[in-house]
Amino acid sequence: LPLTDQKILVTAGPTYEAIDPVRFIGNHSSGKMGFALADELASLGADVTLIAGPTAQISKYHSIKRIDVVSAADMLTQCLEHFTDANACVMCAAVADYTPAHVSAQKIKKHDDGLNIQLKKTTDILKTLGQQKRANQVLVGFALETQNEEQYAIDKLQKKNLDLIVLNSLNDEGAGFKNDTNKVTLIDRSLNKTTYDLKNKTEVAHDICVKLTQLLKK
Ligand code: C5P
Repeated sequence: LPLTDQKILVTAGPTYEAIDPVRFIGNHSSGKMGFALADELASLGADVTLIAGPTAQISKYHSIKRIDVVSAADMLTQCLEHFTDANACVMCAAVADYTPAHVSAQKIKKHDDGLNIQLKKTTDILKTLGQQKRANQVLVGFALETQNEEQYAIDKLQKKNLDLIVLNSLNDEGAGFKNDTNKVTLIDRSLNKTTYDLKNKTEVAHDICVKLTQLLKK
């Protein structure tokens, strides 16, 4: 199989950032794209570690090592632990950009006035891995944009030291978060750009894996 002996790390799903013991800040990521990628990579023979935020998805392959996490900080810890061993890493998770500066130990009581929750920035996991990346490691990121899509995707590719970026636009019907379909553009370091039709996430995962396999062979 084309990816036999390749260790590949995949992140999927949202992260939940605790406000208090019963509340969190999350996002609409379903985890479908990341799980489809993990399945496709496993079917091609890769040794897959899947770091998943809270999601209802289930992997098709028992060979996939799944690590469940909740917050962006947990996901960072697990990614750092598994990155060194990996030949490639595909970061599909919708990681929170901000997290509450303080987590209340008790449930916050309701009052008559409004409530302000102070947020602090999370660590950009993908950027951190990009800084640690060895020459033979392949790093793939995602970009979900609503405007100036291609330019923002190229900026991310360069700033985060990626080998490939998968751009999906919320302006495309059927693309992005909750759907079973996605429409993507792949952009590599040489700024080669390929735009694909709207497809099942399984088929999109296949297209990404074909490109990833080429990059691993280089
Ligand atoms: O900068 P932006 O969040 O749009 O970049 C998206 C890419 O970065 C995705 O691949 C996502 O998994 C990754 N990311 C991350 N850690 C963060 C934020 C985003 O790994 N804190």
